[in-house]
Amino acid sequence: MAAVAGISATTTTVLLLLLIHITTTYSTTIYSGSISPNFTASHYLFVEKSGDFLRSINRNYTAAIASPRPTSPSFYLIVYHSASHTVIWTANRNSPVSSSGQIRLSATGITIYDDSGESVWSTPPIGSTVDSLQLLDTGNLILRNGVNKTLWQSFDYPTDTIVSAQRFPLGKSLTASNSPSDYSDGEYRFTLTSHDGMLEWRRLTYYRLSMDSRSIVNSDRPVSYLTVNGSGFYLFGSSGSELVIRVMLTSTASESAFRILKLLNDGHLVVMTYTNNWVTDFSSPVDTCRIPFRCGKLGLCSANGCSCPAGFRNDPNANPGCVLSDNSLSLPESCNGNSTLPESEKYVYVPIGTGMKYFSTDFTNPVKNEVGLSTCEAICSSNCSCLGLYYQNKSGSCYLIENDLGSITSSSGNEDDDDKIGFVKAISSSSYQDNTSVSDFPVVGLVLLPTTGVLLIAIIAVWMSRRASNEKMRSNSKKLVDSYSDDVDMFFIAGLPVRFSYEHLVEATMSFSTQIGSGGFGTVYKGMLRDKTVVAVKKVIALGSQGKKEFGTEIAIIGNIHHVNLVKLKGFCTHERERFLVYEYMNRGSLDRTLFGTGPPLEWQERFEIAVGTARGLAYLHSGCEHKIIHCDVKPENILLSDDMQVKISDFGLSKLLGPEQSGLFTTMRGTRGYLAPEWLTNEAISDKTDVYSYGMVLLELIHGRKNCSQAPILCSENPTTTTQGQSSGSSGSHNPPHARSLYFPLQALEMHEDGRYLDLVDSRLAGRVTKDEAEKLVKVALCCLHEEPSLRPTMANVVAMLEGTLPLGEPRLESLNFLRFYGRRFSEPSMVVTQSEAEIPSCFNAPTIESSNTSFSQNLFSYMSSQQVSGPR
Ligand SMILES: *[C@@H]1O[C@H](CO)[C@@H](O)[C@H](O)[C@H]1NC(C)=O
Ligand SMILES: *[C@@H]1O[C@H](CO)[C@@H](O)[C@H](O)[C@H]1NC(C)=O
Ligand SMILES: *[C@@H]1O[C@H](CO)[C@@H](O)[C@H](O)[C@H]1NC(C)=O
Ligand SMILES: *[C@@H]1O[C@H](CO)[C@@H](O)[C@H](O)[C@H]1NC(C)=O
Ligand SMILES: *[C@@H]1O[C@H](CO)[C@@H](O)[C@H](O)[C@H]1NC(C)=O
Ligand SMILES: *[C@@H]1O[C@H](CO)[C@@H](O)[C@H](O)[C@H]1NC(C)=O
Ligand SMILES: *[C@@H]1O[C@H](CO)[C@@H](O)[C@H](O)[C@H]1NC(C)=O
Repeated sequence: MAAVAGISATTTTVLLLLLIHITTTYSTTIYSGSISPNFTASHYLFVEKSGDFLRSINRNYTAAIASPRPTSPSFYLIVYHSASHTVIWTANRNSPVSSSGQIRLSATGITIYDDSGESVWSTPPIGSTVDSLQLLDTGNLILRNGVNKTLWQSFDYPTDTIVSAQRFPLGKSLTASNSPSDYSDGEYRFTLTSHDGMLEWRRLTYYRLSMDSRSIVNSDRPVSYLTVNGSGFYLFGSSGSELVIRVMLTSTASESAFRILKLLNDGHLVVMTYTNNWVTDFSSPVDTCRIPFRCGKLGLCSANGCSCPAGFRNDPNANPGCVLSDNSLSLPESCNGNSTLPESEKYVYVPIGTGMKYFSTDFTNPVKNEVGLSTCEAICSSNCSCLGLYYQNKSGSCYLIENDLGSITSSSGNEDDDDKIGFVKAISSSSYQDNTSVSDFPVVGLVLLPTTGVLLIAIIAVWMSRRASNEKMRSNSKKLVDSYSDDVDMFFIAGLPVRFSYEHLVEATMSFSTQIGSGGFGTVYKGMLRDKTVVAVKKVIALGSQGKKEFGTEIAIIGNIHHVNLVKLKGFCTHERERFLVYEYMNRGSLDRTLFGTGPPLEWQERFEIAVGTARGLAYLHSGCEHKIIHCDVKPENILLSDDMQVKISDFGLSKLLGPEQSGLFTTMRGTRGYLAPEWLTNEAISDKTDVYSYGMVLLELIHGRKNCSQAPILCSENPTTTTQGQSSGSSGSHNPPHARSLYFPLQALEMHEDGRYLDLVDSRLAGRVTKDEAEKLVKVALCCLHEEPSLRPTMANVVAMLEGTLPLGEPRLESLNFLRFYGRRFSEPSMVVTQSEAEIPSCFNAPTIESSNTSFSQNLFSYMSSQQVSGPR
């Protein structure tokens, strides 16, 4: 147990447990390269060669019948790397044979027979006669026919390892072995999905490659295959030339050294390089406690090893692992979705303690939001797959723990889900025995009274209270259904967030009395739900003729996006033609108020955290979630803050809700011109890089502490007559006296960058508290984001990496920034905008979710307009 510690496997030169016990004796009788049919081998026959029978022509790989350990009775057909003795492929993983088991190559393929001559494994039927079995120089074991056509290859059936020459295709999995001495399928799995690489334990995700800070997401194209080579590993798109995700791993060894990607039996996904020994270049998850079964069932994993949470004790039958301290309680078995337990089963929910995290709640959505703990318990009780739950008091979110109980970790720091409380479902053995009696009720005392009349009353009371509680449960579950049922077409949309009744929202907002924001598309009100959660209710008016079904689908997509840096959509409501969106409430309002307001200035560290948080949120929208979402309206007004310095982006995905008819609203778009990328006006496709540009503008404002345009309203986005937020040039105090030369701050940033005078750009109120390096970093990142050519802008994931220092800072390219010298002026001419409004405008509206390069010029202008008008929940 003590061995657990937060050791990252990187630190150890992995003493490969995967070694097979072979003392290589080179012998000419081992076939080289190829074998013809009517060949039979067994470990026993080739014993003096340790079971080796075929070697690739370059001798780098060997095929053998071998066992994992000298003493092991289990023999497998394997391919291993000759020099390191590392198994890269296993045929009969789940059906080992004895030392006299045989492998036979015939005209129909390879078959493995056990002692009794029974076939335990074979290659699938192939429609051609096998001419040879070859072990290629790449490690690929193949069957070929007479005209040299490949009929079958081991690279198509990876086990737990991928070698450099191998393509690991979409939909395949690597399954870790059970233990170093047992090659059979273990519980951990690595799967390639269309946009990610996922690690799973018993079908539950515990790691996503795209969320790893070391991975760089290049594109949102669907993934087609993964490869590993001397410079890292790569997920390629279907064209085969497009990189979707890359992880750069500079090896200490030469680039031609033997490198593998392997899922270890302990649940780590590693990339290792072999020269004379193994070096681990990559190991995920980095935090070993993120491995679901690290400390066994309900074990508490920490840097010091495994222990049990309060209320639990060591499981005498499993080490590590924990059971409930209370002997009268026992844990139910999961039915894995297979059957239903008797309804009369009574469960109690034992708290795991505060600050305890469970891996799966980071990767699954709550089954319900906005419910009380008792409803959450009722949902769990009614589902025999459910073994426990996590409940977030703040949002009323209910997460179920399904199928199996893994280990627990104590949560680290100020994350969003800190207030999630875990409970384990337990059967009370006393209530179990008493199931047929009436002892569960307080009236039990009365039952013992000798008077039959009282007994009768007691029985009736019990019966009635049971009935009432059943009724209550039934009506609870009915209520859950009811909330959807008046719109039948929405009922079937999976993952739809909570639907509120109009009456509930009227009550919550006290008839929409506290307005906290407004814009062309709607008004935002503060409200308090029945469970006392404070929310921001956005009343979205003038929505198009978009069908309810589409509305529901989009809501489901937006509602399913969960990220600490994105405002959570808690629910929605439709009432006649009005639609309402209910968001979590952020008590410090939007960044523009804090940044440009008259209060104390934000400290540099706070600004940096806002920059990183915003970048993370956008990176997630662009590539972390199933449906790519381009925000289209990144600006300080849409970046919300809370007291504990949480940063959340609002209004993402809203462009998706608007119908094509609202083009009339376009004229109001000038509101946020200052953040719009040049491609808006040049008819180029709108992409995630469009958000990157706007982000760059926001970053400059963070550095400067003022609007990019505040010194020259005429050049900028604000319409001077409608400025209401107190950040116009007159009210912002006397800091940073205007430079006559460069009124447009982005241009000033470019010029100061050319002169290396980064500190001159920093908010003068922070004078002396910022180092040149810190300023230089943000200025350079901002300028890189502003490149005129979208493809030269970094992805948001790269921005995160640059800010965090895991990727070297990019160097701004002056030739792609010169346009700033003209840009302010160009944007100041209103005629420009009007002309464009009549032309075809690139659309954010269609860009997301689908590959739609040919539709990106449709006439959906709405997201464009949502600038300024659709203000976020604040
Ligand atoms: C393999 O053996 C079968 C019968 O045992 C025979 O018909 C066939 O010709 C043999 N093939 C080769 C390539 O020797
Ligand atoms: C075979 O191994 C040698 C040394 O171990 C290495 O230099 C060579 O590149 C390897 N060849 C291939 C095709 O992997
Ligand atoms: C068989 O095909 C492989 C490539 O698929 C080629 O390298 C090899 O030379 C071919 N062998 C013969 C005998 O044609
Ligand atoms: C590895 O693959 C990537 C992507 O194809 C390529 O850019 C890189 O040069 C390759 N590295 C080596 C050492 O072959
Ligand atoms: C459900 O359980 C039955 C019997 O226990 C079993 O035969 C069946 O395969 C199970 N189904 C699933 C989906 O696990
Ligand atoms: C129990 O939960 C699982 C997982 O969410 C779900 O697939 C299954 O349908 C649920 N069963 C019932 C009876 O609700
Ligand atoms: C849940 O929140 C309510 C009010 O927000 C509070 O009174 C209650 O103590 C909280 N419960 C827990 C278990 O934190």
